[in-house]
Amino acid sequence: MLKKYLYGQPIPTEAIVEDYPVSDEPLCCLAEKIDEDGHISFSAVLAEEDIVYGLGEASRGINKRGHIYECFNSDDPYHTEEKRSLYGSHNFIVVSGKTSYGVFVDCGAKVTFDIGYSDYDRLVITPSVKDFVLYIIEGDRADDIVRQFRRAIGQSYIAPFWAFGFQQSRWSYFTADDVREVVRQYRENHIPLDAVYLDIDYMEAYKDFTVSEERFPHFREFVQEMKEQGIHLVPIIDAGVKIEEGYAVYEEGKAKGYFCKRKDGTDFVAGVWPGRTHFPDFLQPEARRWFGLWYKGLLDDGIEGFWNDMNEPAMFYTEEGIAEAVAYLKAFDFSCNDSNKFFELGSRASGLANRREDYAAMYHTVNGQPVCHEQVHNLYGYYMTRAAAEAFQELVPDKKILLFSRSSYIGMHRYGGLWTGDNQSWWSHLLLNIKMMPSLNMCGFLYCGADLGGFGTNCTRDLLLRWLAFGIFTPLMRNHSAFGTRPQECYAFGDTEAFRGIISLRYRLIPYLYSEYVRACENNEMLFKPLAFDYPEDDIARHIEDQLLLSDNLMLTPVYEQNAIGRTVYLPEPMRFVLFKNAEVIHSEILPQGHHFIHVALDEVPVFIRPGHSLMLCSPAESTAALSSASSLAVTNLSFS
Ligand code: GLC
Repeated sequence: MLKKYLYGQPIPTEAIVEDYPVSDEPLCCLAEKIDEDGHISFSAVLAEEDIVYGLGEASRGINKRGHIYECFNSDDPYHTEEKRSLYGSHNFIVVSGKTSYGVFVDCGAKVTFDIGYSDYDRLVITPSVKDFVLYIIEGDRADDIVRQFRRAIGQSYIAPFWAFGFQQSRWSYFTADDVREVVRQYRENHIPLDAVYLDIDYMEAYKDFTVSEERFPHFREFVQEMKEQGIHLVPIIDAGVKIEEGYAVYEEGKAKGYFCKRKDGTDFVAGVWPGRTHFPDFLQPEARRWFGLWYKGLLDDGIEGFWNDMNEPAMFYTEEGIAEAVAYLKAFDFSCNDSNKFFELGSRASGLANRREDYAAMYHTVNGQPVCHEQVHNLYGYYMTRAAAEAFQELVPDKKILLFSRSSYIGMHRYGGLWTGDNQSWWSHLLLNIKMMPSLNMCGFLYCGADLGGFGTNCTRDLLLRWLAFGIFTPLMRNHSAFGTRPQECYAFGDTEAFRGIISLRYRLIPYLYSEYVRACENNEMLFKPLAFDYPEDDIARHIEDQLLLSDNLMLTPVYEQNAIGRTVYLPEPMRFVLFKNAEVIHSEILPQGHHFIHVALDEVPVFIRPGHSLMLCSPAESTAALSSASSLAVTNLSFS
């Protein structure tokens, strides 16, 4: 049962696809409070046993209780515990315990969820604006509430089959020969691979929809050459358009009035990778179509997958911000002995990126009216991705194109997937990846994953192996790392056998994973579930955050600590424990309900099969194309009946 409450005159987000009448019943579950400025907040008492799920891409645990979260899409690569905002805003929570209900605050501006941070027994939700739609979803169980919500927001994007293959990325493979070398190493080491990513350096001066002729000559032939080796190239597209006379995207966008404006009506300027850029106004349907059609050139070259980036939008600086900082520095009294002033000096210089003042100075045009960016900030990446997806629908309606984005909002899940942005090569970020998957699924994002091995800082062999051993179950399975970090490809750490074994297991699982994924998309189900969703009566299971259910069949128990020889697992009921090495079963036994310590070496992958379920494995292959051959049809069926 979903009830809709309208506040003010919100700008439609199109997050919800079903048309619900505005409820005339009094607000249930939440108490409403209006302050003297007319700002509304909602609160509820949390009972001791209440767990709060949701918020999609957010820091901390599956249970969000005990912290405060600000849904405001943020380009911040340090995903530490205290962070209140990451790249996506997914304003949906489920309270489950004494009573159960879901809340979705549909609003493009910032929304704060204080989930027992100020007071552990209190939930307080505060939209930063007066115009929004509030949805309350009633249901007896968390999984039922999520299902109702997922139905309301529409079916999740379905990625192509090949996008379940293993994908290798780096910022950057600078030349076509760099890419060839990556492919050669993977193929020679017989480590399966389906895609290589092209980060910003494939472009000419970071200009969207250009390809550097010097570094990637005869691009179309190169795309074909890679395809013949079973490799898809996946180029990045950034939100900002370089300001450069004669550059067609810039010239056209400017002439047609498709860029975001300043208050005075001139085109807004910020610095990103290409230097001075304009941001397309994706909230205008015509601008969206215009930008989307620019993907055609790369599609014509044979490209079948894209990642949309820097679409919070990320701003490294603005001229206004620099002018303010310079004025501050010039006026600085170096003879003062106030150490706080010196700290402020540093933050003035380092705080030039993504300033709230700059977001407040940017304007969109919605139905002919100027709308301050802050009001719709969280929709920007969503509408960029929608621009691409709508163009694909128009240009190549019969083809599934891989598409995912860094910034997102609920609604975008119908157009593409997401990756969780610039994480670090930290063990804690492997655990964060594990915990985030069910939360993302609750909000409709099924095709998603983290940068395996971690984006920033240097990865180690053991971290990459453990991360891959979890990543083989995530729909997007991509190893990506930042400029300046140590090489992170699977052949960069000496002996490749363990990597080959783990990634080969992924390929043996792909037919099973892909069909479970498509089924979950079509039925508005989750692929990754907290144990609590299927074992709500088991109080131990309800509080487990480092084991996940995969669909209805499996339980995953990844190892996420360095130097661990295994881990303790909890079985809410008897299950078949299967241990894989070199993509083969090396151990299988039925374990009774309760706690167990399982030994898991670095090159092994543990899986638990639930009673009455089975796991299908096909024959190994080195690319998804090879999976469709007859030999791969030989299936191994592991079951626990
Ligand atoms: C951003 C992206 C990252 C990419 C880099 C360079 O930081 O999140 O994935 O590698 O930009 O394009």
